[in-house]
Amino acid sequence: MLLAGKKVVVVGGSSGIGLSTAEMAKREGADVIIASRNVDRLDKAADALNAIAIPADVTSDESVASLFRSSGPVDHVVVTAAQLRTGPFKTVTMEDVRGTMEGKFWGAWRVAKHAEIRAGGSLTLVSGFLSVRPRPNSAIVSAANGALESLSRALALELAPVRVNCVSPGIIDTPIRAAMPEEARRDMLAKTAASLPVGRVGVGEDIARQILSFMANGFATGATVYIDGGALVI
Ligand SMILES: NC(=O)c1ccc[n+]([C@@H]2O[C@H](COP(=O)([O-])OP(=O)(O)OC[C@H]3O[C@@H](n4cnc5c(N)ncnc54)[C@H](OP(=O)(O)O)[C@@H]3O)[C@@H](O)[C@H]2O)c1
Repeated sequence: MLLAGKKVVVVGGSSGIGLSTAEMAKREGADVIIASRNVDRLDKAADALNAIAIPADVTSDESVASLFRSSGPVDHVVVTAAQLRTGPFKTVTMEDVRGTMEGKFWGAWRVAKHAEIRAGGSLTLVSGFLSVRPRPNSAIVSAANGALESLSRALALELAPVRVNCVSPGIIDTPIRAAMPEEARRDMLAKTAASLPVGRVGVGEDIARQILSFMANGFATGATVYIDGGALVI
């Protein structure tokens, strides 16, 4: 088993890519802690996984500090937490775009700052392919993702010997789009699948596999890997 005896914290581990990562780390023998805001959802996920649940909100310095005081030193940390609010550039509110940065970018920053990761362990950030393949109405998400990719390279230097990497997903079918009307969501996923060389959209496990590879590969640091079903080459 790849992670026997290792302690892994997944911030955003109650859903989607984070939940898949927590499941995979558990199967590989790790002791897993998952953290997120909604306590019911977090507890249900932790029970199903036989993991530890620690409620935390990455938009709060104190909440993130408290999470890592409770966890103590750990081997691997993953940040998938994000809640994105976006819209047309000229009309999207500053409150929405600041909120997106607060959770996605500053949230990852806070986790990197407060986590005590053992030497040779790893931190993995999750950006998104909009950093290099922008789409209309999502400038703030492109900017947050690009900033995370730069941050991971900077931290790979500054936090060494802790290794820091970034995975940049394409379209992954997770609850992140739960607020979309169901028909529009299915339509968007079907059109995306048809356009991609792999002929399907991603699932959480596709990204989790890359994150576990970053944990296990002691030569990986400062890397950003795009796992997007070929979205960058179409
Ligand atoms: N799915 C995609 O197509 C896709 C594509 C590119 C990039 N990504 C990126 O991949 C990451 C994971 O996305 P996902 O699809 O797995 O999303 P998801 O299913 O919505 O999961 C997000 C997780 O983050 C937690 N979270 C949100 N805000 C938080 C906060 N302020 N503090 C602590 N936890 C918080 C959520 O739980 P609570 O709400 O209970 O806190 C949940 O556990 C995100 O950064 C997303 O931008 C996703």
